Amino acid sequence: MMQISNPRICIIGAGLAGLTSAKSLQGEGLNFTILEATEYFGGTWRYEPRVGNYDNGLPIFSSMYKHLRTNLPKPTMELKGFPIPEDMPSYPTWEMYYEYLKNYVKHFDLERYIKYQHHVIGISRAGNAWKVKHKYLPSGEVYVDEFDYVIIGTGHFSVPKRPNIKGEELFKGTIIHSHNYREPEPYRGRNVMIVGAGPSGVDITLDVATVAKTVYHSHHSKINFSKTKFPKNYIVKPDIKEFNETGASFVNGTYENVDDVIYCTGYLFNYSFCDNSTGLTLRPKTVTPLHKFIVNINQPTMLFVGLIEKACLVTALDAQSRYVAALIKGKFALPSRDEMMKEWQMAVDKCVEKGRSLDNLHFLAESEDEYYEELTKESGIERVPPVLSKIRSADMLSKENLYTYRNYSYKVIDNNTFERTLEVDTDSNNIEQTM
Ligand SMILES: Cc1cc2nc3c(=O)[nH]c(=O)nc-3n(C[C@H](O)[C@H](O)[C@H](O)COP(=O)(O)OP(=O)(O)OC[C@H]3O[C@@H](n4cnc5c(N)ncnc54)[C@H](O)[C@@H]3O)c2cc1C
Ligand SMILES: *[C@@H]1O[C@H](CO)[C@@H](O)[C@H](O)[C@H]1NC(C)=O
Ligand SMILES: *[C@@H]1O[C@H](CO)[C@@H](O)[C@H](O)[C@H]1NC(C)=O
Ligand SMILES: *[C@@H]1O[C@H](CO)[C@@H](O)[C@H](O)[C@H]1NC(C)=O
Ligand SMILES: *[C@@H]1O[C@H](CO)[C@@H](O)[C@H](O)[C@H]1NC(C)=O
Ligand SMILES: *[C@@H]1O[C@H](CO)[C@@H](O)[C@H](O)[C@H]1NC(C)=O
Ligand SMILES: *[C@@H]1O[C@H](CO)[C@@H](O)[C@H](O)[C@H]1NC(C)=O
Ligand SMILES: *[C@@H]1O[C@H](CO)[C@@H](O)[C@H](O)[C@H]1NC(C)=O
Ligand SMILES: *[C@@H]1O[C@H](CO)[C@@H](O)[C@H](O)[C@H]1NC(C)=O
Repeated sequence: MMQISNPRICIIGAGLAGLTSAKSLQGEGLNFTILEATEYFGGTWRYEPRVGNYDNGLPIFSSMYKHLRTNLPKPTMELKGFPIPEDMPSYPTWEMYYEYLKNYVKHFDLERYIKYQHHVIGISRAGNAWKVKHKYLPSGEVYVDEFDYVIIGTGHFSVPKRPNIKGEELFKGTIIHSHNYREPEPYRGRNVMIVGAGPSGVDITLDVATVAKTVYHSHHSKINFSKTKFPKNYIVKPDIKEFNETGASFVNGTYENVDDVIYCTGYLFNYSFCDNSTGLTLRPKTVTPLHKFIVNINQPTMLFVGLIEKACLVTALDAQSRYVAALIKGKFALPSRDEMMKEWQMAVDKCVEKGRSLDNLHFLAESEDEYYEELTKESGIERVPPVLSKIRSADMLSKENLYTYRNYSYKVIDNNTFERTLEVDTDSNNIEQTM
């Protein structure tokens, strides 16, 4: 790839992926523009009490709920070059983390690059450039701008993935997806069924259980929750077989009357603004073919940041943003197209070999630390230390007790070791009694 001097660069999205990309590009002395669909930066981390659409018709983006505390400890959510304040709790609330993000934006003076209410609706390759089509929402005007590079940081926790369950149309109660869950109050005194036991599923279950009459938790998670002392109104259920007007029957032959259902069944990718000329194949949970989950192998001036799952996502997207900036700056060269394709195909084959659905292709999981090693080896960026993946593993184990895992505080000692302490609240012991 020829090095372009003074390249025209477009970042799409002003969430963490877009903001870390901005900071990294700025650090390399590169100029760029950020197109952001909403009136805000922060993406997921900006709580939006409304659900549905914004006044201008754009679907509400954030899936944040009112009582969220992070599900990862703070060292794994720290952005490079900007330490999280000492006095922030180990698992901060979304308000605290959003405040940290605001300070990051202020400190690196990033807001001046953002064009708000510019919704990107199409990206195509024409000649030697990217044509980025974006709509300025207040006026409806559509612009097409040319860039040498596009960095896509539009997130993937916004479009609900819903199961297709027999009889759902008969059910007379309410059904929502966790994307539209905000707070427990509407469920006071009701019989609620929560479907799924991912991070949102377990959080929302415990949140709703504080007010509901009964919470039925239907899931097939392999996590052993036996250390969690669930409240008396909690009843675990296997997968749903079918709905009828008044409730749901389950695969083990039982039936429960329920008033409300909350699907915590995950999210779909939506990169449909990338048309055929981008050379990508888009599926509900995959974008193909990518090098290191970042570089569009067929058009290597298109770069994705944050397109992975099952990882310390903040740490990972921050590292990816540094990789992207180093690449554009010409600090390293990509392998040949053939080599990149071969490596990508190997990752796809490995996923299939392990008997996993291709929906898991973007999972880093147990390969997370190896991934950081590879990024550094190829690009020369500073390596993400192994200690962060170690902290993530320790945190995962302690999630067997959903009520106490956030009481641990993790301190990085060096690149390979951390110290963990139990924060005990000395002022009150009621939580322990109600557990
Ligand atoms: C409820 C919830 C809780 C989470 N908790 C944690 C946690 O505790 N710890 C953790 O590490 N991670 C957590 N995550 C993951 C979280 O998504 C990441 O921390 C991070 O926010 C990802 O940043 P992003 O920039 O990739 O995406 P986002 O935050 O989703 O930001 C994407 C931005 O792109 C904009 N955009 C989208 N499409 C377009 C378009 N077509 N044109 C222009 N702009 C567009 C959006 O408006 C948004 O501002 C959580 C996610 C959810 C949903
Ligand atoms: C930086 O990019 C913006 C938008 O692409 C452009 O308007 C501006 O002139 C550029 N600045 C420099 C110094 O190149
Ligand atoms: C879950 O953990 C408990 C102890 O915490 C153990 O007794 C039980 O056998 C475990 N269950 C499974 C299925 O591993
Ligand atoms: C149905 O499944 C739930 C949860 O898996 C279990 O607790 C319950 O005992 C099962 N009931 C029957 C009748 O099999
Ligand atoms: C739904 O199914 C259950 C279990 O079979 C049954 O008891 C209940 O009456 C059914 N509800 C309606 C409205 O048919
Ligand atoms: C996916 O994105 C496209 C283009 O940005 C948008 O028009 C469409 O409504 C989105 N789909 C969903 C299901 O949100
Ligand atoms: C894009 O490619 C797919 C399959 O290769 C084809 O079905 C579709 O019609 C193409 N769309 C356009 C707009 O060319
Ligand atoms: C820790 O890792 C960083 C980044 O790879 C490296 O620069 C530093 O020398 C390491 N520190 C020690 C003590 O090994
Ligand atoms: C856990 O932390 C909470 C505060 O977040 C506190 O109220 C509770 O007592 C702690 N529990 C234990 C077992 O330390």
